[in-house]
Amino acid sequence: MNEILKAEAITKTYGARGAKQYQALKGIYFSLQKGEFVGIMGASGSGKTTLLNILSTLDVPTSGKVVINQHDLSSLNKKQLADFRGREIGFIFQDFNLLENLTNRENIALPLALQNVKAAEINEKVNAIAKRLGIDSILTKYPAEISGGQKQRVAAARALVHNPAILFGDEPTGALDSTAATELLTTMEKLNQEDQVTILMVTHDPYSASYAQRILFIKDGKIGRELEKGQASRADFYQEIIGELGRN
Ligand SMILES: Nc1ncnc2c1ncn2[C@@H]1O[C@H](COP(=O)(O)OP(=O)(O)OP(=O)(O)O)[C@@H](O)[C@H]1O
Ligand SMILES: [Mg+2]
Repeated sequence: MNEILKAEAITKTYGARGAKQYQALKGIYFSLQKGEFVGIMGASGSGKTTLLNILSTLDVPTSGKVVINQHDLSSLNKKQLADFRGREIGFIFQDFNLLENLTNRENIALPLALQNVKAAEINEKVNAIAKRLGIDSILTKYPAEISGGQKQRVAAARALVHNPAILFGDEPTGALDSTAATELLTTMEKLNQEDQVTILMVTHDPYSASYAQRILFIKDGKIGRELEKGQASRADFYQEIIGELGRN
């Protein structure tokens, strides 16, 4: 077993002490093995984004422990954490988060440029991941000049160009039409199966979730049920997910 992420007793309370507080996470436990593609589902407000932001180092838990690639995140100082994020984490957001005044090539290159990688190596890596994601022909364009589906693939390329330990996605298909969503999901599936990219994806959409191998259902700030695809087809897993959502 090759554990890439471990979440232990994670809680998150929003609001300053004394002020009005809200406990969004009430004790989250799970782990991810290298090469897994796992989905997180749950009702709006159940804590999915809160959890993903904590796991991906964008936010800190109120209590509990996150270990990624054998690094206990709480033991890293601010500088080390930024460095760690730059090397080990890839993130795709629902609204792409591309920088509009940079070309698509420059957007994808950003994580490497921030690590002071040499220009020739940056070019080589950007070309390779762009080819993998089928966006090599739009690299000189700007984000405003491409479609939503293409934007999300540029964002995926940016998230993967530095070969991170984990790819996190918060509703990565949320702003895409069904064709573009399917394209992104099959690309993620391919990266997972062929390149062993570990993926943790939040979604409320059962169709998107059916591409994962395992689904964690979060409810009232805790992980309740869990579903495994196992040998089931994607279509059957989709039905299983619908059934599970219907139970609540
Ligand atoms: N910065 C914040 N301050 C106070 N409360 C917050 C903050 N962010 C989120 N919350 C609350 O924490 C709970 C969980 O929010 P979160 O964004 O994690 O939900 P979610 O599962 O991602 O929902 P959605 O499916 O709508 O994106 C919600 O009740 C929300 O109102
Ligand atoms: Mg959310």
